[in-house]
Amino acid sequence: MESLGISSGSFSITHWLICILGAALLSVIYRRLTNPLSHIPGPEISKWTEAIYTYNWLKGRTPMYVHQLHEKHGPIVRISPDQVDICDVDAVKEIHKTNSRFAKTAFYRKLALGNVPTTFSTTDRNFHTHHRRLLASPISDSSLARLEPLIANRVRTAVNKITMELTAYGVTDVFKWWLFMATDIIGELTFGDSFRMLEVGKKNQYSLDMERLISLQPFRTTFPSLVKIARYFPLPAIKETAKAEDRLQTYAMQSVDRYKKLICQNPSNPKQTLFAKLFDEKSGMSYSDITQEAQEYIVAGSDTTAVTLTYLTYSVCRDSRVREKLVAELATIPEPVTDKRLRDLTYLNQIISETLRLYTAVPFGLPRLVPPEGAQFNGYHVPGGTTVSTQAYSLHRDHIIFPDPDNFKPERWEYPTKEMKDASLPFGGGSRICLGIHLARMELRLATALFFRALPNARPSTKEGMTANEMEMQSFFLMAPQGHRCIIEA
Ligand code: HEM
Repeated sequence: MESLGISSGSFSITHWLICILGAALLSVIYRRLTNPLSHIPGPEISKWTEAIYTYNWLKGRTPMYVHQLHEKHGPIVRISPDQVDICDVDAVKEIHKTNSRFAKTAFYRKLALGNVPTTFSTTDRNFHTHHRRLLASPISDSSLARLEPLIANRVRTAVNKITMELTAYGVTDVFKWWLFMATDIIGELTFGDSFRMLEVGKKNQYSLDMERLISLQPFRTTFPSLVKIARYFPLPAIKETAKAEDRLQTYAMQSVDRYKKLICQNPSNPKQTLFAKLFDEKSGMSYSDITQEAQEYIVAGSDTTAVTLTYLTYSVCRDSRVREKLVAELATIPEPVTDKRLRDLTYLNQIISETLRLYTAVPFGLPRLVPPEGAQFNGYHVPGGTTVSTQAYSLHRDHIIFPDPDNFKPERWEYPTKEMKDASLPFGGGSRICLGIHLARMELRLATALFFRALPNARPSTKEGMTANEMEMQSFFLMAPQGHRCIIEA
């Protein structure tokens, strides 16, 4: 037996390790030899392994890495042995049209907390149609008009808190306040009660849990099985993450219960929320369905809006020409500032469009599965089963469509070309376009207007050790400034 190398403990472990490494090597070689994407331009390493892609994903640098590949290899590029990214308007139209043949990939399920299907994460067309139909009308542009007083009230509170912090300390962290505001708004609109983050003014357990889970998203999607079993290991960091996930589930359940109580107290006229239709018995939604959707809404509706507002504030503050032009335009409207008046302000809306272009909160390619019959893109056949993505980070930096793409120039939106509109993907497209687009836009208009009316001289600060480097983008699907703060003075 000894001579066969299977008897003594250390020998057999070594043999097992050699076997595993050998099998992994053979699998890499097999994938390379049989790779159906070999004819598509891309780095040689991407025919063999996804290691470099995964490395960038774990570092929060996927959009930048894929963009570099486009700059080198052109509009269609192989980014891993089974993934292709395309930076082309026709591809966007084909992949993200209504009733597209390109379904979301299983990646979305891994991204979702609890790994369960929701409107955002499902790959099932019927499930999606049913859930989206229930959620869509309360969050449509016309229905939201009724909720404007509540939204505007929260925005005013946020701007007051920012002003008070500036008066007390000479500086303020706008990222923190925009996050509290967006979280309170989506909490109140969804459950009829807010998380009171603006009121307390400090990160609470909920926001800390959320931060932890979002920053661990690359790990959770890359090693999903490891995360599942890791909760049973006595490693403090992993145990804490599992606890954070459980706590988020509990918050969602408690919030749903609170709303159910509100309905019981006043069944004939319950407080209207974005989720009202889900509670209707005819909806066919289970308690667990509602809780999962609630959790997903809060993630989708808080960080995205807060990050966009943070980059908008920062970009306007650091360019006095842009800031003065905006302040002058805002001075033309009388009190009270209403969303209806803001919709007509040309420069304000150009600034929002430019922020959504340059600092899109989801710069990451939105992965979709090529249907079994395959597809033709940019003269290349892409076989069925391949993952294709179209990342906004690159589309929004196409220097032919957006000349001088790295600079913040709101005026480029004065006469937007059809190509500019077609290449803009900040909210996705087709049947899977962002459900919160009108809410997000309303928050962006109100917050920008009220902030710059209150603080016309706001500018980026270097106090508290704040550096421009902290505003570099980091993307774990959702993007955020890597320093997780944005210090402003006025
Ligand atoms: C500036 C703010 C926002 C940005 C940039 C943004 C961006 C996006 C993008 C790019 C997608 C498409 C994802 C994909 O196709 O893979 C999406 C989907 C979604 N967003 Fe937003 N979002 C924002 C705000 C919101 C808000 C406030 C809500 C609140 C409800 C929300 C809820 C959703 C939902 C539920 C989906 C899934 C829609 C579906 O698959 O049918 N988002 N968002």
